[in-house]
Amino acid sequence: MIDKLKQFVIQKIFSVIDLYADHKKKIVLTKFKSCGVDVTIDEPTCIKDPDKITIGSHVYINAFCHFWGFGGITIGDNVMIASHCALTSITHSKYTKLFNEQNVLGPIIIEDNVWIGSHVVILPGVTIGRNSIIGAGAIVNKDVAPNSIYVGVPARKIESLNHPDK
Ligand SMILES: CC(C)(COP(=O)(O)OP(=O)(O)OC[C@H]1O[C@@H](n2cnc3c(N)ncnc32)[C@H](O)[C@@H]1OP(=O)(O)O)[C@@H](O)C(=O)NCCC(=O)NCCS
Repeated sequence: MIDKLKQFVIQKIFSVIDLYADHKKKIVLTKFKSCGVDVTIDEPTCIKDPDKITIGSHVYINAFCHFWGFGGITIGDNVMIASHCALTSITHSKYTKLFNEQNVLGPIIIEDNVWIGSHVVILPGVTIGRNSIIGAGAIVNKDVAPNSIYVGVPARKIESLNHPDK
């Protein structure tokens, strides 16, 4: 009897913790400039300046990503971002006496149906064209053409995709 009671209490505690975690995730989504439906952001993920970040619908962002949103980040519909990715819409001037004196901003745009592999870094000012794939570990410092696969450091095109939506 005591064991059943203990089990019941433990289950209740866990369901309250789950409810709290769900609630926290929903609050995070309301902080964006705008956010569509069916958006999942796994924890832990670090998001700076969410009010400058726009997210479409059916977007999956895996854990351990870091978004620096200050320069503006736009993520389209049906985008998948694997774990450990960094989206950096802000950098610093190399010409000032102290490197922290001046921010340099460049918006990042990820168009619809883009798949970004794990450990990718996207630098300020980059647009990733729709239906494209960025291979794991790439550093993307220039615009990515639509319907293409890019890999490497710096990212370079290795394949054109014959996407039905081309
Ligand atoms: C980019 C990717 C989709 C390409 O897959 P693919 O078309 O099957 O690629 P292949 O294995 O045929 O490789 C094609 C060439 O690109 C190279 N390549 C593939 N992925 C690469 C990567 N991430 N970085 C550098 N080079 C890569 C291969 O070495 C090969 O080069 P070669 O022709 O000189 O031998 C895949 O390699 C990848 O990175 N997937 C992401 C995995 C991931 O992050 N998963 C997390 C959950 S989503």
